[in-house]
Amino acid sequence: VVDIKGGESEGLDSLGQVLTVRGWVRTLRVQSSVTFIEVNDGSCLSNMQCVIDSDAEGYDQVESGLITTGASVCVEGLVVPSQGKKQKIELKIQKLVTIGKSDPSFPIQKKKVTREFLRSKAHLRPRTNTFGAVARVRNALAYATHKFFQENGFVWVASPIITASDCEGAGEQFCVTTLIPSSKEAMDSPADAIPKTENGLIDWSQDFFEKPAFLTVSGQLNGETYATALTDVYTFGPTFRAENSNTSRHLAEFWMIEPELAFADLNDDMACATAYLQYVVKHVLENCKEDMDFFNNWIEKGIIDRLSDVVEKSFVRMTYTDAVELLLKSKKKFEFPVKWGCDLQSEHERYITEEAYNGCPVIITDYPKDIKAFYMRLNDDGKTVAAMDMLVPRVGELIGGSQREERLDYLENRIDELKLSKESLWWYLDLRRYGTVPHAGFGLGFERLVQFATGIDNIRDTIPFPRAPGSAEF
Ligand code: 4AD
Ligand code: MG
Repeated sequence: VVDIKGGESEGLDSLGQVLTVRGWVRTLRVQSSVTFIEVNDGSCLSNMQCVIDSDAEGYDQVESGLITTGASVCVEGLVVPSQGKKQKIELKIQKLVTIGKSDPSFPIQKKKVTREFLRSKAHLRPRTNTFGAVARVRNALAYATHKFFQENGFVWVASPIITASDCEGAGEQFCVTTLIPSSKEAMDSPADAIPKTENGLIDWSQDFFEKPAFLTVSGQLNGETYATALTDVYTFGPTFRAENSNTSRHLAEFWMIEPELAFADLNDDMACATAYLQYVVKHVLENCKEDMDFFNNWIEKGIIDRLSDVVEKSFVRMTYTDAVELLLKSKKKFEFPVKWGCDLQSEHERYITEEAYNGCPVIITDYPKDIKAFYMRLNDDGKTVAAMDMLVPRVGELIGGSQREERLDYLENRIDELKLSKESLWWYLDLRRYGTVPHAGFGLGFERLVQFATGIDNIRDTIPFPRAPGSAEF
C-alpha cells in the first residue's frame, strides 16, 4: 500500500519503485501525447494517477475504448514525480490489463450526482469519494469502539437478535414468524404460509419458537445478565425498530453499542459515556486525516474544529427540570410546546446543545419516570428516574442510558404499574433475587455517531444498506 495523501511523504518514498495497482477507473483523460487514468482501490480517498503512452503494453485497450469509468484494471508501472499540482507522484504505466470492462450505462459518471440518487444505487455508491470516506471512518469508529472497551477491561457480549422481550416497551418491534412450507410459494405469499388457527389468527404453538418472537430493539437486558457476572461488559450489534419515523435520524435497522457496568451509578455511567465519545472522536481525527479533511472541505465546513473541541472540553450536565426551564425561558418558537413531563423533541435537544451551549455536548439527567422505560432506577423524589441522555449538535440524542433499578420490590412495582408481565421477565427479576448490585449502562446509536463524526446529514448515508419505511432493497 502506498500512502498517497494520508502519509507525510504523500508517496514520495516510493519513487523509483515498480508497483502493481489493482482498482477501478475513476476517470480517463486522453490528451494528444499521453493519457491519464485515475485508479482508485478504496484504500484511501486519493486516486493513483496513472500515465500511459502509446508504446506501453496494453495501450490498444485505451484506443479501442475498453478503459472507461467503472472498469476494473491492473496496472504495472514505475513511480515517478508528478508534474500535476494535485499529487506528488504518479505511475508511469508499463503494462495495462483490463480485468472487467464497464458498460457505458455505468450510472456514476464524473458529473455530480445527488445523494438521493445514490441511495437508489446503494450497490455502486461505495465507489464514490463520499461513500468511500464514510465507509472508512465508520470502520475506524468500530475499531476504536472495541479498542476503548477492551483497553478498559470490558468483555464483549453477543446479545441475541431474536428475542421475546421488548426492552424499551415502546411496541416498536418487528415480529418473527416461520413460513411453512418454506419454499418459493411461501416467499411469494408469506401470509398464506404462516401457521393459523381455525379462526384465522396466527397459531403460535405451531410456530418455530412456540410463542411470539421479535427482532431485538436493544441488547440491554441480556447485557445486564452478563454485567452481573463479569462486571463490565458491552454489546455491539444490530438492533431493529419499527418506528414509522421518516426522519434523517431514524433507521429501522441500526447498530447499537451498549456498555453495562456493575457496581456503578449514574455518575460512573456518564463518565464512561464521555470518555468513550472523546476516545473514538480522537481516534478518527488522528487516524483518518485525509477523509476528515475531505469532510471538512466538502460536507461540513469546520467539522475538524468542532470535533477537536469535543475531545478537549468537558461536557455540560444539567437535570431535565433545568433543561425544561431553559427551554421555557428561551425566546425560540418551538413547534412542540414544552412543559415539565413532556418528552424532549429533536428541536428542543438541538436548541440546547447547538444554541444554548454553542455546540458543546450536553448530558441531561433525571427525567420524569413516566416518559422513560420500566428498568430505570427511581430517584428519592418518587417522580424522576436516574436516566441520562447525551445530546450533541446536528444529531440531538446520541446516547440514552440510566442506572438500573436493582431493588426487587421497586422493580416489581414498576412492572405492575406499567402492566408489563412479571412472568415473561422472570429471568430479569432473578438478577435482583440472586446477588443484586447497583449497575448502570447506556446505548449509543452507531449511525448517529457516524453522522456526528462525518457531518453527513442523513442517517441513511451512514450505513451501507439503509432500512427505512418502504425501503428494504439490496
Ligand atoms: O434511547 P434508546 O431507546 O435506549 C435504549 O435502547 C437503551 N436500552 C440503551 C441502554 O441503556 N442500554 O436508544 C439508544 C440510542 C439512542 O440514543 C439513539 O442514538 C439510538 O440508540 N437510536 C436510533 N438510531 C437510529 N435509528 C433509530 N430508530 C434509533 N432509535 C434509537
Ligand atoms: Mg432514548
